[in-house]
Amino acid sequence: MHKISVIVPTYNEKKNLKRLTDKIFKALEGVDFEIIVVDDNSPDGTGQLADEIASKHLNVKVVHRPGKLGLGTAILDGAAASEGEFVSVIDADLQHPPELLKTMLEKASEGYDIVIASRYVEGGRVEGWSFTRRLISKGALWLSHILLPKTRSVKDTQSGYFIFKKDVIDGVRFNARGFKLLIEILVKGKYDKVVEVPYTFKSREAGESKMRLNEIFNYLMQVIRLSNYRTFKFMAVGISGVFVNLGTLWYLVSFLSVSELVAGVVAIELSILSNFLFNDFWTFKDRRRGRFVYRLIKCHGSAIGPIVNYATLAVLVWVGVHYLVSDAIGILLGFAANYLFSETVIWS
Ligand code: GDD
Ligand code: MN
Repeated sequence: MHKISVIVPTYNEKKNLKRLTDKIFKALEGVDFEIIVVDDNSPDGTGQLADEIASKHLNVKVVHRPGKLGLGTAILDGAAASEGEFVSVIDADLQHPPELLKTMLEKASEGYDIVIASRYVEGGRVEGWSFTRRLISKGALWLSHILLPKTRSVKDTQSGYFIFKKDVIDGVRFNARGFKLLIEILVKGKYDKVVEVPYTFKSREAGESKMRLNEIFNYLMQVIRLSNYRTFKFMAVGISGVFVNLGTLWYLVSFLSVSELVAGVVAIELSILSNFLFNDFWTFKDRRRGRFVYRLIKCHGSAIGPIVNYATLAVLVWVGVHYLVSDAIGILLGFAANYLFSETVIWS
């Protein structure tokens, strides 16, 4: 088996670190490995404890950083200091079972470039999470699947527990702001085979989570950035379509005296086509697969936008909501439907 570097990012994990390293020693008996603790000058003295452990074990290293610089960059700094052919990331708080390391390493030796410990494949689960946190986690997963096709085959894109071959990130430029480095690796890394192994994400026994509301915002920005700002481009194109539509209608009716009903049909069709062209040559230019004509035909399915818009308007007005509010909600839902259709059908 190859050498593995186990990276343990820590911020205020004094009560957990020793137990964790002991468990790693036990789990990796007979394996060539090193542990790299990356501590951000934890106020509780985790760094000193790590130094103590390192002084007793040759294969434990500590990277000290001056202050809390974030989980993502901690992992990268750990990887930069590592010697192993494989790198593993595990949280210090024992929510990620070290017993699983051996299984994950075996998978890696079988030729998988990335092995992910997963809560969302058969056999995996989460312990003691509130309904809200579950919902946020699922929403985040959903978001990554819609915006980032490369993550679609992975069930737990949010996992903080994984092993990857170091070649995967060789020469890759990371942004690494925030918690979820795995997603960035999945989008930018160089790899062929990914596999997930199930585990139970246990509740924390000591210390507290560093997951904050701003991490949700960080995540949102990360996914949008990794998608090359696709959602915003799509919105801009949609707005341009409104002008094409209105402009055509106006021109046909007031200059060519075409009847409103006929002009309306032409205006809608032209705006669908112009939206399609902008999206095909700009928004989704990296996602063009198959024949142009097929996409051109499929793009008419984006009529789903106006249909959803109109249906929402009708239903909401019927239940008594103000018509402008109803229409605003309708526009939003229509946009979402159209966007989803584009991401998953036209430029899947
Ligand atoms: N060095 C350093 N710097 N370590 C940090 C920092 C930081 O800024 N922020 C957090 N850590 C360390 C913690 O000390 C812990 O060991 C680990 O990173 C995870 O932090 P938690 O606060 O325990 O995160 P969580 O339990 O909410 O979520 C974790 O597990 C999820 C499921 O796998 C994270 O790994 C998530 O990314 C992951 O989705
Ligand atoms: Mn945790």
